[in-house]
Amino acid sequence: AGKIQTMAKHALSLKILGECSTTKARVCQLTLPHQVVDTPVFMPVGTQGTLKGILPEQLEDLGCQIMLSNTYHLGHRPGPELLTQAGGLHNWMRWNRALLTDSGGFQMVSLLKLAEITEQGVKFESPHDGSEMMLTPEESMRIQNSIGADIMMQLDDVVSSTTSGPRVEEAMHRSIRWLDRCIKAHKNTSKQNLFAIVQGGLDETLRNQCIEEMTKRDVPGFAIGGLSGGEEKQHFWKMVNISTDSLPKEKPRYLMGVGYAVDLVVCSALGCDMFDCVFPTRTARFGTALVPSGQLQLKKEVYANDTRPIDDNCECLTCRNYSRAYLHSIVTKETIACHLVTLHNVAYQLNLMKYVRKSIMEDTLPKFIQNFMLEQFPHKQ
Ligand code: GUN
Ligand code: ZN
Repeated sequence: AGKIQTMAKHALSLKILGECSTTKARVCQLTLPHQVVDTPVFMPVGTQGTLKGILPEQLEDLGCQIMLSNTYHLGHRPGPELLTQAGGLHNWMRWNRALLTDSGGFQMVSLLKLAEITEQGVKFESPHDGSEMMLTPEESMRIQNSIGADIMMQLDDVVSSTTSGPRVEEAMHRSIRWLDRCIKAHKNTSKQNLFAIVQGGLDETLRNQCIEEMTKRDVPGFAIGGLSGGEEKQHFWKMVNISTDSLPKEKPRYLMGVGYAVDLVVCSALGCDMFDCVFPTRTARFGTALVPSGQLQLKKEVYANDTRPIDDNCECLTCRNYSRAYLHSIVTKETIACHLVTLHNVAYQLNLMKYVRKSIMEDTLPKFIQNFMLEQFPHKQ
């Protein structure tokens, strides 16, 4: 009966398929309106309604089940009116699987130095015509409803993870107030899931207080925000760990802005289900390929005569057809290089998560992590 009620109230269901006996890791089947998603999952980021250099068909061929887009960019162009006319972003960009949109505030604060946060919303100068604009929780919901993503994020007040003092507490409380305004303004609860975002900086008490308050609201899922902004790993892991300790087990947990292989593995073990990051696709455009031992900077002279693929064990189109030497000769010069390395990096991230899920199901995650770490950090002589 609990399950039926959940389905009726929210536009998702979460079924736990397997749990690790040593860590907090779990494998789930997350059923969204457009797609069943296997978790833990990495979600590639397609800021403008396109994943730079990759067609939706290619992303599907890689097995990608969910991708991310940004409210801030799409709200300006094409804008909510055209998006509504097109029947939403799925139709607009020809992607039929699941979509998640971030609320816009974080992008504005990180992209525009001029953004100012008030109780009303995020005030900023339009980068297009210089006029003063305001992104409120209500406006973010209006745009995200027109985009129609399977999961939408509340507007939150984000401060840098290296900030301390009263500003962190203010941002946490404001994020709770903005969550309530988002819940009220959300007009499409039967087809779109609104996630809350836990804030509170690196302060254990503030994080717990935020979770206690937010879990009183019956939202379909929770995100852990405000991390991975240059804080020390031990603080980062601590905050993730205490968050997954108190977030409800039966709802998805999304760790925002996390995408380094090491963090994906560790935070899956800490019980996170979803991750996103621009890093794998952005770094590809600068010619960096991700491999089990770390990263290859294809621009480097050592690859000029290297006839091996990026990764012998990778089955992506790039690794099946092209050598490091070929990529070296065109990288940062030809757009096709950006395309090919991006394709590989997305394949790498998705495969990594596939191995994580497999080892959770087989209950061999600790061994997997040990081997993964040894490959990433071989003992220095
Ligand atoms: N992306 C990475 N971190 C955050 C966060 O704290 N809030 C939002 N909205 N987006 C993010
Ligand atoms: Zn590859």
